[in-house]
Amino acid sequence: MFASQRLDGDKPEQYAQLAAQARALLAGERDRIANAANLSALVFHALPDLNWVGFYFFDGAELVVGPFQGQPACVRIPLDKGVCGAAARTRSTQRVEDVHAFPGHIACDAASRSELVVPLYDGDALVGVFDLDSPRVARFDAEDQAGLETVARIWLESLMESPR
Ligand code: SME
Repeated sequence: MFASQRLDGDKPEQYAQLAAQARALLAGERDRIANAANLSALVFHALPDLNWVGFYFFDGAELVVGPFQGQPACVRIPLDKGVCGAAARTRSTQRVEDVHAFPGHIACDAASRSELVVPLYDGDALVGVFDLDSPRVARFDAEDQAGLETVARIWLESLMESPR
């Protein structure tokens, strides 16, 4: 059974602990659905003020919702739409302090006020995006971004692990 540990210390220390928990949780498993599901649950319950955490996978044409925690979400996002599309298209993390001020933001949950989307690339190949929403404006700062980019990289690396 997985026993989640409370995060403590300053924010970088908390993200170091979260990264260690993520590595332990995904160790020895390469299934991308299983690892995305468990990672979404880990992060959703570990961090405060989140209303949606999950994955969209690229199907060769658009982003399709994958495992997540939160309210039911929009199923398909074209690459030219939304914060998720922008992250996938630009290959750079989108940190949006106020989603109402982001042109083209797609509101899946009306409670969402800020958002962080990390693009997931395997070399030049788009795999998907890791998306987090918060009901609080400016929930994510640069330290959250760095910590969550590390968590996203742990998921990507887990896909290449040798099986247990
Ligand atoms: N807000 C996202 C859509 C996905 S939901 O937040 C789960 C966007 O604008 O791309």
